[in-house]
Amino acid sequence: MPRKILVTSALPYANGDIHLGHLVGYIQADIWVRFQRMRGNIVHYVCADDTHGTPVMLRAEKEGVSPEALIARVHDEHLRDFTAFGIAFDNYYSTHSPETRAYCEDFYARLQAAGMIETRAIEQFYDPVKEIFLPDRFIKGDCPRCGAADQYGDNCEACGAAYAPAELKNPRSAVSGATPVLRASEHYFFRLSDKRAVAFLREWTRGTETRDGVSVRHLPPEAANKMQEWLGAEGENKLSDWDISRDAPYFGFEIPGAPGKYFYVWLDAPIGYLASFKHYAQGKDIALEDYTDEARAHAVGTEMAHFIGKDILYFHALFWPAMLKFARYRTPSQLCVNGYLTVDGAKMSKSRGTFITARSWLDGTLDPEALRYYFASKSNGTVEDLDLNLNDMIAKVNADLVGKFVNIASRCAGFVTKRFAGKLGDIDADAARPFAQAWTTGEIAAAFEARDDARALREIMRLADVANEYIATRRPWELARQDGKEAELHVACSTAITLFRDLARYLKPVLPAMVAKIETFLAIAPLDWQGDWQPLPAGHCIAPYKHLATRIEPAQTEALIEANRETLQAPPPLATPSKEALRHASRAAASGEDGLRNKPGGQAMPTLSIEDFAKVDLRVAKIVAADFVDGADKLLRLSLDIGEDKPRQVFAGIKSAYAPEALIGRLTVMVANLAPRKMKFGLSEGMVLAASDPEGTTPGIHLLTPDSGAAPGMKIK
Ligand code: 2FM
Ligand code: ZN
Repeated sequence: MPRKILVTSALPYANGDIHLGHLVGYIQADIWVRFQRMRGNIVHYVCADDTHGTPVMLRAEKEGVSPEALIARVHDEHLRDFTAFGIAFDNYYSTHSPETRAYCEDFYARLQAAGMIETRAIEQFYDPVKEIFLPDRFIKGDCPRCGAADQYGDNCEACGAAYAPAELKNPRSAVSGATPVLRASEHYFFRLSDKRAVAFLREWTRGTETRDGVSVRHLPPEAANKMQEWLGAEGENKLSDWDISRDAPYFGFEIPGAPGKYFYVWLDAPIGYLASFKHYAQGKDIALEDYTDEARAHAVGTEMAHFIGKDILYFHALFWPAMLKFARYRTPSQLCVNGYLTVDGAKMSKSRGTFITARSWLDGTLDPEALRYYFASKSNGTVEDLDLNLNDMIAKVNADLVGKFVNIASRCAGFVTKRFAGKLGDIDADAARPFAQAWTTGEIAAAFEARDDARALREIMRLADVANEYIATRRPWELARQDGKEAELHVACSTAITLFRDLARYLKPVLPAMVAKIETFLAIAPLDWQGDWQPLPAGHCIAPYKHLATRIEPAQTEALIEANRETLQAPPPLATPSKEALRHASRAAASGEDGLRNKPGGQAMPTLSIEDFAKVDLRVAKIVAADFVDGADKLLRLSLDIGEDKPRQVFAGIKSAYAPEALIGRLTVMVANLAPRKMKFGLSEGMVLAASDPEGTTPGIHLLTPDSGAAPGMKIK
């Protein structure tokens, strides 16, 4: 009977890019999922963007877009990055979804019915200027222990102390700069300190689940120990109730019957796992409750495995199982916890260029599967941190994948094609024996099952060495030059190709794209991990060998580091990121609004990274129509052709400087990816660029024009 497993990866926040630190856990999960599927198990692998909360709300505001528009954009970016790294979710959804809302309300009602919800008034820091309650991360001040300046509201990066925001000296809001004030409001709590919850967690965190006759712990041993610390000794209760509500304004779901109160983002985030799965299961032959309902899951024997980073263990090992338990949903079978990523032995750093985004890797020349291979080679299923040593990665990928693995095919396949019309012959059974044995003992499978990918790869590379030794003793290139050695040559190459097939099969969970090419080259059905060991049959015809992998050169990783290096000459002011300032400045210039102005010799702008600048899509635009706008003092309505199906409508504050008819037919510069802005007069779908210097010798507005030869739609960079 195949196992039925719901696998989830932690939901990334919808306000930041995917970076290599994220990818550690996603790659581990994806390898496990692919391995399980090759074994014939039924796996549903889901994820979503974690969309709610104050940071998303503020980020959207800064960008001048709605939170919905922001999360839609980020969702696409995240999915694009994951897909390019071969992370094959069945569903990549959003917590801002009807399914999440419905589950939240259901959990809440069930937890209330179970007597697990309580309300009480608490005091929190409030930003009187911005008129919002401030999450700890948005409060800064001097550390109450060591006095270090500019520390966050919950812990000090200088001395490592943890404290409550109210203890900070000279607190200020990181949003507005105002001094926050303590203000009371009513909050909703999940009663984690309830005796029932404590007893359940004490048991669950130490618990195991049996499958296929093997008992698997809910938590890795290191994590289980940590939990006992957090729970305190038997008879002791160190858990506090968990604050699950936030006050308006908040981007999230309002709590039923509690106007102005919203579910805290960390309540709906793990619920997003179930919501993504529900959305996926709809209309398919999947019995949702078999995976989600406590009694059904138990009866059917389904599993639920969450892949997470150790930073979010607390949420997944305490809050989440307790929520599930007291709402009568199934509790997780297994938390698969990964450690942090370091790069060249140190914490990722923007100034050193080691805070590497997934996008920069994809935009460069490095193969995403090189990273998958390297991460797998250093993932042993424990919560240990993983170091990406770039030189080590180059050496490992070149030696293992190019030198040992691909080399087998590239040295032997040509002879099969040229001398035997692509047909394989008999194989050397003695040479293949270690491979047949490895298949039977199942050691590699056991390593992947235990998520010890490093051990699996070591064993696979040991077999690759065996295959290479065989080729080195048979020396097909010499056999090919000798008369009367056709038969020997055929056996040597056919054997090598079968061994190569075996290695490809073992590597498939790690290198899905490369192995897909290999399946085409070998002209075989998709490789799986079932049945008895068999060689490729004599007479089977393979396709001509095509190049499979290239050595990595140090220049490639050097370019990657450069692409990620941020040179911060002057730190941007706290609440005014450079992008934002730039946008305001140019918008003000073009629309004649008051605001920041880009004065010559005036206010210096904060430094902008090349990546940030590259996010601005500047295009040559042809003004195909220009009109006055009824009721607008400063605006003209422009129709701009940038090579799209229909022209864009843009309102520009240039009425004081240009007669509409004088503009028609002329070229200018447009920001094409500015979020559309709803104005009283209609939608403005971009912005034209103009220079202005109101206090200078040439006041007025000067629309930019590209040099002759430029055409509508051309990209400006
Ligand atoms: O820490 C984070 O990045 C969270 N967005 C993870 C959420 S995982 C799950 F609970 F949704
Ligand atoms: Zn300190």
